[in-house]
Amino acid sequence: MESVIVAIDGPSGTGKSSTSKAVAAELGLSYLDTGAQYRAITWWMISNGIDVDDPAAIASASGKPVIESGTDPAAPTITVDGLDASGPIRTQEVTSKVSAVSAVPEVRARITELQRTIASAAAKVAKGIVVEGRDIGTTVLPGADLKIFLTASPEARAARRSGELKGKEATDLAATREALVKRDAADAGRKTSPLAKADDAVEVDTTELTLSQVIECVVALVEEKR
Ligand code: C5P
Repeated sequence: MESVIVAIDGPSGTGKSSTSKAVAAELGLSYLDTGAQYRAITWWMISNGIDVDDPAAIASASGKPVIESGTDPAAPTITVDGLDASGPIRTQEVTSKVSAVSAVPEVRARITELQRTIASAAAKVAKGIVVEGRDIGTTVLPGADLKIFLTASPEARAARRSGELKGKEATDLAATREALVKRDAADAGRKTSPLAKADDAVEVDTTELTLSQVIECVVALVEEKR
């Protein structure tokens, strides 16, 4: 069987991660969370005292951290300089700063190269990979076999995101919605590879769908390509 490369993009809270992991696990594919890589470099910048509002400082430090992603969908990992970053990258501090860091072209160039290396290795040695992010179909892997763009209403996205955060950090729905809309606007409005639907992507509106329905829909689309 030929390997398959699947790009899943969309704003936050659309179910990208849950869908991508489940589809990859079900079809025996690798999985790459590119948001985790941008969060990891942001965490490194904060930990090393780099001013995240200073693009020149971010650009000049962008080559320093060593970021590694494990691509098993059952247990994806992310390390920075050998340290497990999976907890720290999910804090509100990182979430509120990641858009500024990921808008810096030098950061994008570095992370994009990493993503392409991982995807081409998975296409050679495994059955393929599901790569989730914001610019995968448009910029990172424009030749992907299948491109999906997930959407959902801001209300549905905020409700899902605050459900994920519950128990971890104090949160309320209105604040979550506001932060999420702000982050999406920054991601969609940046100059370098903004959050966007590729012309040849299939758009799936998940507002009224359960997670299982979204997974089923994407699995069917991948199977059509194999
Ligand atoms: O998917 P997640 O919410 O973890 O992504 C965190 C942030 O990483 C996004 O808000 C965006 O700023 C950045 N990102 C990006 N390009 C990607 C994936 C994520 O700029 N391909």
